[in-house]
Amino acid sequence: MASGAPAETPLRKTMKSGRTPPPLALVIFGATGDLTRRKLMPAVYRLFSDGLLPEHFAVVGFARENIGDDEFRGRMRAALAEFAEEPGEAEWARFAPRLSYVGTVFDDPGGFQRLRERLEAADRREGTAGNRLYYLAVPPGVMELVAEQLDRAGLVCDPRDECFSRIIAEKPFGHDLESAKQLNEELHRVFDESQIFRIDHYLGKETTQNILVFRFGNVVWEPVWNRTYVDHVEITVGETVGVEQRAGYYEKAGALRDMVQSHLLQLLALVAMEAPASYDADSIRSEKVKVLRSVRPIRGEDVAHDAVRGQYAASADGKLAGYRQEPGVAPDSRTETFAALRVWIDNWRWAGVPFYLRTGKRLPAKVSEVVVRFRPAPHPILDRVEGDRPTPNALVLRIQPQEGISLFFEAKVPGMRGELRPVSMDFDYREAFGAESPEAYQRLLLDAMLGDATLFAREDEVVAAWTLVAPIVEAWARGGEPQPYPAGSWGPEGAEKLLRDDGRVWRSAVPEGPSGSPAP
Ligand code: BG6
Repeated sequence: MASGAPAETPLRKTMKSGRTPPPLALVIFGATGDLTRRKLMPAVYRLFSDGLLPEHFAVVGFARENIGDDEFRGRMRAALAEFAEEPGEAEWARFAPRLSYVGTVFDDPGGFQRLRERLEAADRREGTAGNRLYYLAVPPGVMELVAEQLDRAGLVCDPRDECFSRIIAEKPFGHDLESAKQLNEELHRVFDESQIFRIDHYLGKETTQNILVFRFGNVVWEPVWNRTYVDHVEITVGETVGVEQRAGYYEKAGALRDMVQSHLLQLLALVAMEAPASYDADSIRSEKVKVLRSVRPIRGEDVAHDAVRGQYAASADGKLAGYRQEPGVAPDSRTETFAALRVWIDNWRWAGVPFYLRTGKRLPAKVSEVVVRFRPAPHPILDRVEGDRPTPNALVLRIQPQEGISLFFEAKVPGMRGELRPVSMDFDYREAFGAESPEAYQRLLLDAMLGDATLFAREDEVVAAWTLVAPIVEAWARGGEPQPYPAGSWGPEGAEKLLRDDGRVWRSAVPEGPSGSPAP
């Protein structure tokens, strides 16, 4: 790297220990797209410069555009400068020769033959040993085609062979329940489930991974992590950005498909699941599926009661355009840019405890957090002294930014009056570990290279998630309009009402409380 190798930190050491993948070639389908520039290439390059990639590796870009290897390398270098760090000359000279490019339309078998030749050359030159990791950074409709073409070109090893072929499917995995099931089927025609890695980058975030460690690596939470002590749970994933240049995709997706079906339901599953028998891919994923299947689908008349959709309008000061004015968006678009849900989990642990989920674009803050709100103290003795009702305990898992965990509890304000005030105990990743967390894509790419599927969604998991989202998508498609909210606000009034009707309010996901301390 230009500024030298990153500092050795406990986190980096942990990531390194014993985790070097075998020799392999990574093939990126959709290599000229935004995801490759913004996320994939920076992640590959950082793994490389951190010494986490095998000595023998190659990266082959594959896309429609007809460009040569040198042009591809130049673009990737520019992408690193923009989205990661400008590579130093020596480092780049070591990295660049590993990159090459095949330009072809995806339905041309000849293009896949050229890919085959390229990969065989990499086996000879770079020693990639016939191992392939195929990254499908392409829309769901194209994934089946790529799988089929790979198969026809003889580019897929059997799981029992010595070499491996794995496929990473970028989200969205399907467009609805039926297409997700169909995509599963199509991929299974070529790949065994053990070879398929469905990505949800929220699972690669350190803070998301820590939810299980926090819950099951400590003894204090489990006894209170249930309906007896928890009043409700809030999950917020807010973004300040609007639709940006992605209208082509987003107009057909909307917040429910784009965020709730994947990221928010994954967070819910990790917060609500039972303890797995062990920390391995199948035990964890089985527990996640179990809890997702216990979520009561919101359907029929419940949609109007338990689900809110919004769409951002221009900001109050007129500086931010409304969604319908964004490039590529239909002037009468009904696509939701905000969704909020009241969700019930019908099992012994959570019966009667509402989970409130919300996500939106053009909100006031980029913030992802889970708030577990506990019930009020059963017999508040101090209440009687000063007439000051104690604030119930709250636990905030900050997924991003300011990654950390805060526990809010009541304390007595020093002095003669019996005044209470909520204070917090805080854990901050950066302070505790002295390191930036690795990017989610780094972790996930490395895991896929190692064949570890723990942080990827299994076939039945995506089906369970689509099953929950589908009836709402269908109800919204039948009619009605999203409620407008000004860009830069916390969403439509309906989202406030969702909680207000239950006598609750969303935690203000702004880091500072009135006294300068974090607010519960
Ligand atoms: C993606 C969505 O999966 O997640 C985007 O398609 C969204 O619309 C993004 O902006 C948010 O990810 P992060 O990591 O920035 O919270």
